[in-house]
Amino acid sequence: MFKRKAAFGLDIGSCSVKAVQMRRTSRGIELEKFASVPIYPNGKSDSETDVRAAKIAAIERAVAAAKITAKNVVSSVSGESIIVRYIQLPHMTEEELRNALRYEAEEYIPFHIEEVNLDSHILGVTEEGGSRRLNVLLVAAKKDIIGSHLDLIRGAGLIPEIVDVDSFALFNCYEQSARPSPDEVVVLVDIGSQITNINIYHGGLSHFARDINLGGRTITTALEQKLGISFSEAEQLKFSEGVHVAAPAPSVDTDGGEGEDSPLIESLQGAVNEMTGEDLGDDSLESQASRIIRGSLNTLVAEIRRSLQFFENQVSGQPVSRMVLCGGTARLPNIANHFTQEIGLPTEIFNPVASLSLNSKNIDENTLANCREVLGVGIGLALRKVA
Ligand SMILES: Nc1ncnc2c1ncn2[C@@H]1O[C@H](COP(=O)(O)OP(=O)(O)OP(=O)(O)O)[C@@H](O)[C@H]1O
Ligand SMILES: [Mg+2]
Repeated sequence: MFKRKAAFGLDIGSCSVKAVQMRRTSRGIELEKFASVPIYPNGKSDSETDVRAAKIAAIERAVAAAKITAKNVVSSVSGESIIVRYIQLPHMTEEELRNALRYEAEEYIPFHIEEVNLDSHILGVTEEGGSRRLNVLLVAAKKDIIGSHLDLIRGAGLIPEIVDVDSFALFNCYEQSARPSPDEVVVLVDIGSQITNINIYHGGLSHFARDINLGGRTITTALEQKLGISFSEAEQLKFSEGVHVAAPAPSVDTDGGEGEDSPLIESLQGAVNEMTGEDLGDDSLESQASRIIRGSLNTLVAEIRRSLQFFENQVSGQPVSRMVLCGGTARLPNIANHFTQEIGLPTEIFNPVASLSLNSKNIDENTLANCREVLGVGIGLALRKVA
């Protein structure tokens, strides 16, 4: 019987490689095979590590572990050197845009135009004072970054077919899985090891995308350095401690003291801080770890807040309604509660396989449950080629 072609999404992260094979079947879109494997045997690279060789070996291990048969790969890049801009141009056809892009892009890109690969996507048309303007998503990636990315894929004996951007792949997965309503404004945050992608979506389109060089590794490094423990001890401590969430401040109606905490709230807050060990100077390993983890997350929280403020004040005027987390660091115990409290948005952990059928022969549901947070990008990539 005719079988539809398998689609292969490959997410080469900074600490793990995720390989995903999907296919359209009579039961809908199926997650046929997947694997997530660490790149470095000891969890991180050191000055001796040949990073290229380690990444190629990890791709090969992921392909072997998942028993992936497809050779053509849809993959993606991310990080602060991938420039994403939302720009307005005079109205033109798609073909005119293709021709004008290099010239038009120059003023938006902090690199020499000859050094980058450019791509664009028309988001829509705005009518302003009788003239029509084109809203364009512009993506620029330095050629050397794309070159070394392609080299990894070819080095593992695979054929690169499409190179996307992590955050757009994730949106693709989110859109097909969660089907957000058109008026909802959602911020998707993928917290990986070294990179956090922040993306704001509304009405089926991306309106803001930013990658910052912070992630789970930042927390582990802080624990290693401040507590003088090894990388693997720090990882274990992070996994077991998670982030301690203070009990929410009770909502007490005060007479007119709008914006100011009443003495009652202040004293309760003090008690809460004591209970959570925040102000006690408690020096047990756990409370020190807890303070360090919260401190590292604070930097991330501040960056997310900045992005939300920029979007709400300068891009759209519309408030973001909720936050969806994924990436390995979304597994940090209590992180969703912590973000709900610190950022003030309802926060949930994304399940990228929720609307997929699972191949019962190849997929072990326990293994999947232990790593599904990291599969969003790979699934979104494979979805690009699911016919
Ligand atoms: N249970 C857990 N609790 C806390 N953190 C976790 C847990 N499991 C994994 N992590 C963290 O998740 C991170 C890896 O996530 P992920 O696999 O999404 O990163 P990556 O895609 O390789 O990296 P990046 O996208 O940053 O290039 C690591 O920092 C790891 O410590
Ligand atoms: Mg990642």
